[in-house]
Amino acid sequence: MKRIPEPELMESLSQVEAYSNADFSKSDSFVVFGLQEYLKKSGKTLNKNDLILDVGCGPGNIASRIAEIWPFVKVVGIDGSNQMLIQARKKLDNKFSKNLSYELVEINAIATGKKKFPLKAEVLVSNSALHHFHNPSNFWNALKKLAKKECVHFHRDLIRPPSLEKTFEIKEKYLSSSPNILKRDFFASLKASFTVDEVHQQLVKAGLSKLKVYQVDELYFEIIGCV
Ligand SMILES: C[S@@+](CC[C@H](N)C(=O)[O-])C[C@H]1O[C@@H](n2cnc3c(N)ncnc32)[C@H](O)[C@@H]1O
Repeated sequence: MKRIPEPELMESLSQVEAYSNADFSKSDSFVVFGLQEYLKKSGKTLNKNDLILDVGCGPGNIASRIAEIWPFVKVVGIDGSNQMLIQARKKLDNKFSKNLSYELVEINAIATGKKKFPLKAEVLVSNSALHHFHNPSNFWNALKKLAKKECVHFHRDLIRPPSLEKTFEIKEKYLSSSPNILKRDFFASLKASFTVDEVHQQLVKAGLSKLKVYQVDELYFEIIGCV
């Protein structure tokens, strides 16, 4: 099935509220657990004041888990949607995380050099962000600018199904009882996503072929490594 991009930023209030109120805890915990496992396996340790950036952090569910697990590390969630960051900061107020903050950053502007981010990260994490980019090279070029040398990467995203029929089937299988707005967005996201082969080509083109992309299950791939 040919890729059909969806809008990059998630800005409509109803869309953002539906996303923020949804329970993605299972998928979120895979990201956090996967990062913990990778750090353990690769013998990488995080030090006081190291920076973990959650790129396209949305309502901050993953960033806030990461901030709890590594309280001595600085965690910053970046997103280009002000509405998403309003949700993320609301959750932050309830938790008083001292090591977590959010910044409004349009990631294409980092890629093209129109905007500079003042910090570089020891760890870059993203979940369901890559597929939003109309030009995926911008995502990877931005990450290169945001990374310190030997930066750990852990990214997870949806796999584009092979056909429209399969896309319908997956939407119904995983979100049958969810609000319509979430179903609509999930369907659009599946169509906008990339295949494992496409991501592999993107990494080669970006000079990031040290990062490896693996299919995890029917829905997701992960991109992991240190570069
Ligand atoms: C599907 S949400 C995922 C949010 C979060 N990572 C999670 O897993 O809950 C994708 C997020 O990427 C953000 N995003 C997409 N394109 C972006 C861009 N060009 N610059 C900054 N943020 C972007 C959207 O605004 C949205 O909040």
